[in-house]
Amino acid sequence: MISMHKSTALCGIDGYIVDVETDISNGLPGFDIVGLPDAAVKESKERIRAAIKNSGLTFPSKRITVNLAPADIKKEGAHFDLPIALGILAASDQMDLKIGQDAVFLGELSLNGDLRRVNGVLPMVISAYQKGIKTIFLPIENANEAAVVKGVEVFGVKNLCEILEHFISKKIINPTIVDIDELLKDTEKEKYDFAEVKGQLYVKRALEVAAAGGHNVLMIGPPGSGKTMIAKRIPSILPDLTFEESLEVTKIHSIAGNLSSNSPLISERPFRHPHHTISSVGLSGGGANPRPGEISLSHNGVLFMDELPEFRRDALEAMRQPLEDGEITITRSGGTATYPSNVMLVASMNPCPCGYYGDKVRECSCSQSQIMKYMGKISGPLLDRIDLHIEVPSVKYDELETKEKGESSEEIKKRVDRARKIQTERYKGLGIFANSQLTPELMSKYCVLGEEANALLKQAFEALGMSARAHNRILKVARTIADLAGSENIEAEHIAETIQYRALDKKFFN
Ligand SMILES: Nc1ncnc2c1ncn2[C@@H]1O[C@H](COP(=O)(O)OP(=O)(O)OP(=O)(O)O)[C@@H](O)[C@H]1O
Ligand SMILES: [Mg+2]
Repeated sequence: MISMHKSTALCGIDGYIVDVETDISNGLPGFDIVGLPDAAVKESKERIRAAIKNSGLTFPSKRITVNLAPADIKKEGAHFDLPIALGILAASDQMDLKIGQDAVFLGELSLNGDLRRVNGVLPMVISAYQKGIKTIFLPIENANEAAVVKGVEVFGVKNLCEILEHFISKKIINPTIVDIDELLKDTEKEKYDFAEVKGQLYVKRALEVAAAGGHNVLMIGPPGSGKTMIAKRIPSILPDLTFEESLEVTKIHSIAGNLSSNSPLISERPFRHPHHTISSVGLSGGGANPRPGEISLSHNGVLFMDELPEFRRDALEAMRQPLEDGEITITRSGGTATYPSNVMLVASMNPCPCGYYGDKVRECSCSQSQIMKYMGKISGPLLDRIDLHIEVPSVKYDELETKEKGESSEEIKKRVDRARKIQTERYKGLGIFANSQLTPELMSKYCVLGEEANALLKQAFEALGMSARAHNRILKVARTIADLAGSENIEAEHIAETIQYRALDKKFFN
């Protein structure tokens, strides 16, 4: 007898439906799974056999063949356990063949028949819903995560027996419902506040601009000037995450297995702070079975790379394409996966090995060639992708000793939120949320300059020897500065401020 059930699988952050066909025939007892299963799927045989027996059911001593269709895509993960087990029970007359035909099943089985949580549930449920699926059965620990998707009835199941009792209406499982507004609410307050940073008004302003438009920033300054301290305070001024952005972020973290049943939806912008010893695969993603890297895990948030020149050269260079395109495609024998990587890159570095090149007080002890070698670790193309280059000078004694508190993160965030709201409304329906994501096509509509502003930009373009990319990036940053000022048009003063943030190239990198 043949039974048919549906499940899903992932390709990058998108899912597709997998038909699980089970045939049981007379012959030598055996159990085969076909349809390009990976090692975890192949191992499911032993888990399913034990789970069925330990649930008080009968594992048929016949010839069992399971086909996972479409057969030409490699299937990964342990979440096919549940649909395969149900297929065997249905094909061996222990369950009604017709039940659950329209539903999707996923879940890993433990040897005693309990269902274990699996990764990647959110993207799988979203794509199942898009393919017209209305009912999903999955492990109870994944139920909240799946219930975030509106329009799907989600049943969280504890074990194999429970789902069978539900099918014969012996003991009904109630569908899981979550309150999305509650999940999106700020849970914990940020620990760090900009009020603690003394002086550095110029740096704070630049970071306000960066946060408002999602632009990349590089901070250069001597040791102890507060670069790391300032960067750690960026999460406290980032604009709130919209529901659409939150879903995008949660999908990636769902695949990476970073969610728990208490926090099924990521409600705050990610702030990732990888150590400089990270590998290229760790940063950009990859592996035999492709996985998202730090750059994708920081999607719609901040990727903070402290001590930028210390990162491996190959790791830095691999980031060039995802920084530009906002997504990264990884091709391996295990398949091709595309992950979004729209990040605000925040990097920090010293200007030379001793750290004091360009300092007003302390003398730099490095030779010219040492400085050039050190700065040369950051390639021109990578530097060109960074919108704001800011110098973080040493703090003066008077500034440090003042009792006056600086502006709080809360006040800065209010302005950032206002500017970001203007952007999300302006770009509604275009699939982008912030100025940093503007394409050249959209820029010709939203970044038009008046005569005076245009003349100023032309002058700077020629004087600083800018690239076409730098020109575009300046326009985007100027758009953000105009939004912060509540100005409909980009004026000359907005261009002037933006150019200041590009002028460091000359000082440190030539
Ligand atoms: N502007 C400031 N206001 C108040 N405290 C500061 C300021 N700048 C630095 N500090 C103090 O100095 C400490 C060291 O700063 P931080 O680690 O951020 O320096 P850094 O610029 O990252 O140095 P390095 O280049 O060596 O990494 C901070 O933890 C903080 O206590
Ligand atoms: Mg530091």
